[in-house]
Amino acid sequence: MLGKIYTINKNSCVVKLNDDTKSKASDLINVHIVFEDPNKKILGEVDSILEDTIKVNFLGELTENDFVGGLIKKPSMDADVRLINDEELKILTGPRSKCLTLGVSPLYNDTELTVDLDDMFSNHTAIFGNTGSGKTYGICRIIQNIFPNSQIIPYKSNLFIFDSYGEYMNAFKDLSKNNPYYNFKVITTSEKKEYEKLNLPVCLLDLEDVLNLLEATSFSQISMVETALTYAKMFAREDKEAIDFKNHILAKAVLNIMYTNQTTTRIRDQIFEILNETNTPEMSLSSEVPGIGFTRSFRNCFDIDSEGRFAEHKIISDYIKQFVDEDRQWNFDATGVTYSLHDLEVALNFTLYSERYLLNEAMYDSAMSLKVKLHDLASRQYREFFTSDSYITLDEYIRKIQINSENKKCQIVNFNLEDVDDRFARTIVKIYGRMFLKFTRALDDRASFPIHMILEEAHRYVIDGDDRKLFGYNVFERIAKEGRKYGLLLTLITQRPTDINENVISQCANFLIFKINHPADLEYIAKSVPNMSEDIVEKQKTLQSGTCVAFGRIFKIPMIVKMQKADPPPTSSNCDIFGNWMVKIK
Ligand SMILES: Nc1ncnc2c1ncn2[C@@H]1O[C@H](COP(=O)(O)OP(=O)(O)OP(=O)(O)O)[C@@H](O)[C@H]1O
Ligand SMILES: [Mg+2]
Repeated sequence: MLGKIYTINKNSCVVKLNDDTKSKASDLINVHIVFEDPNKKILGEVDSILEDTIKVNFLGELTENDFVGGLIKKPSMDADVRLINDEELKILTGPRSKCLTLGVSPLYNDTELTVDLDDMFSNHTAIFGNTGSGKTYGICRIIQNIFPNSQIIPYKSNLFIFDSYGEYMNAFKDLSKNNPYYNFKVITTSEKKEYEKLNLPVCLLDLEDVLNLLEATSFSQISMVETALTYAKMFAREDKEAIDFKNHILAKAVLNIMYTNQTTTRIRDQIFEILNETNTPEMSLSSEVPGIGFTRSFRNCFDIDSEGRFAEHKIISDYIKQFVDEDRQWNFDATGVTYSLHDLEVALNFTLYSERYLLNEAMYDSAMSLKVKLHDLASRQYREFFTSDSYITLDEYIRKIQINSENKKCQIVNFNLEDVDDRFARTIVKIYGRMFLKFTRALDDRASFPIHMILEEAHRYVIDGDDRKLFGYNVFERIAKEGRKYGLLLTLITQRPTDINENVISQCANFLIFKINHPADLEYIAKSVPNMSEDIVEKQKTLQSGTCVAFGRIFKIPMIVKMQKADPPPTSSNCDIFGNWMVKIK
């Protein structure tokens, strides 16, 4: 017996301690107390101590081997007041099978705290905390714990870690030492690192991806890119229909330009520019155009006469018109077709001219901005990330990025987004998010290929950009809402929760909150996290690095967890100031 109930309030009670427990009162903060009556057991947690009394908040009811949150009845004034015993603690500290060790409980002699593997990994998780509070170490240790040296191994797990600083490589480089079937690989954007380079085949990019890559901001750009993508796919096809189509739209484009009221020279320049980039045997500058008496080259038909007109205006327009076929229903199927960024650039330029976007004052700026951005992308260093030799399906691609140089399946793939600007990194992560969602949604057997996206510095990626305005959603919001049932799960790690879309946070079912000081962050978390009590807010303020408050689906009540140190650790340690500063003077 610890003592006796003195007063009972709405959600708490005050216990007067016995003489022999008074001296240990200071050890009791946050400890769990059981109020036992003949017919029920109520669980509470010590909130504060005042001289020889403790205030205990009620948490719920303990049954034979379970815990139910919330109270219908309070304990009686005569209830036995005692510390939680080992058997009862087991109910709170987690299951013993199909489980994962999360850490230990500093309150209960470092008792191991386990969580159900399904509870932890079939839900979205958020990991918040100040810089240096232990988030990266924590998630590394959790993942290391998933890959034990045992008989039953998570061979079929698919974890994709996105990080910008290369912190994870050290933590997982020796993964296969525990078991030869465990594999880890790195895909990087850094030229300086000797890992597989990021590669995203252009044929796998959707409209949204291209708009994101080109930093689109206006609605008119959506139809420009949409048309460009259709054209790019058609242009890459070699069959008769594709050639007819190409002739058809080339003919329309040239005719359109011919009938604009620009100077003849300007019209000719634009037509030549298009035909230089895109042409067919029938519609190219060197095609032969039959006329009365003799044959001219396409180019020569645009010679300008002394009156400033095209010399062969009639012949060339008649020739071109034969290719226009407005009644035909085109089949735009692009299965098996691959194309490059350059092809897309050609298609976009073609679209902008043929649909006269560049000739329209209101659309000129939007069109020009797409043109410049795509040219920039196709000609700068980033183009290396978009090369592809042959057609690949999304299924094949996702399996391919998990295969290492020894042709083995990697359970952990680390996307190391170093040496690229923030905006580009964000777009890449969004593209993968979109691809994973499309892939998991298309599975015949729903959620049969669970994918986990672990986003280090999630505030860099999970923010609204122009995509929200343009397509009405942010891909992470969609994953947060729909991903769970398809088996696409997010783990968001951040020191700046306020920068993360609130809707995404509210869909997370598990939280590991390391120490956070900033009141704005705390307020934001309290607002967006379901069941975040003031008590948790208070608790995490005093945490040491490597210790967090964990709550949600994984635990019946919020638990203070001391994470085991990652072994090997990630490369995220604090700077060695002494070693870097100090020199010994002789
Ligand atoms: N479980 C732990 N046990 C012991 N020390 C730890 C533990 N977790 C973290 N640390 C210490 O805290 C330091 C910072 O940890 P970590 O890099 O994980 O912080 P972080 O929260 O990821 O910070 P940032 O937001 O800046 O990335 C580590 O270098 C390590 O020394
Ligand atoms: Mg970190």
